[in-house]
Amino acid sequence: MSSQRVMVVNGPNLGRLGVRDPEVYGHDNLEKLRTLCEQWGTELGFEVEVRQSDDEAEVIHWMHEAVDKSLAVVLNPAAFTHYSYGLADAASQVTDAGLKLIEVHISNPSAREAFRRRSVISPVATGTIAGFGFEGYHLALRAIAAVE
Ligand code: DQA
Repeated sequence: MSSQRVMVVNGPNLGRLGVRDPEVYGHDNLEKLRTLCEQWGTELGFEVEVRQSDDEAEVIHWMHEAVDKSLAVVLNPAAFTHYSYGLADAASQVTDAGLKLIEVHISNPSAREAFRRRSVISPVATGTIAGFGFEGYHLALRAIAAVE
C-alpha cells in the first residue's frame, strides 16, 4: 500500500519566516520548516509536501486538489484565517470529503490582537493547534496519524 500523502499549506507572509517578527514566529525560515515536516512525515510513514503562497486563489485551488487527490491537509491559513470565507468554503470541502484538515498557527492568535481572535477556518477544520511554534506542524501530522 502506498503511504498516505499530506499537503502542508502555508498562507500569506509565511515565506518570510525567519525575517518577519522573529520574536513571534522564531528565527527559522520556511526551508527549515519544510525539512522538519518532511522528516516528521517520513517518521510517521507519510509523504509530505510543503507549499506556501501569498495568493488566496492559489491556496483555495490547493484545497480543491486535496479533495480530488484524497490528501490530508495541514493548513496554516495565516492572515486568511481571520477573514477568508472563500478559503473556509474550500477547507470545508476537504473535511466534507472525509479528509482531515488540521489548522495550525505558529503563534497563539487568541493571545494577540483582537482581529486575530476570530478564525473562519476553525469551524470547518478537523481540529486546531496553536502556540507551539513549528512543533505545531509535528503535532498536526501526529494527529493525522493517530486519529481515525
Ligand atoms: C499565524 C497567525 C496569524 O494571525 C497571522 O496572520 C499569520 C501567522 C501563525 O502562524 O501564528 O500570518 O497564522
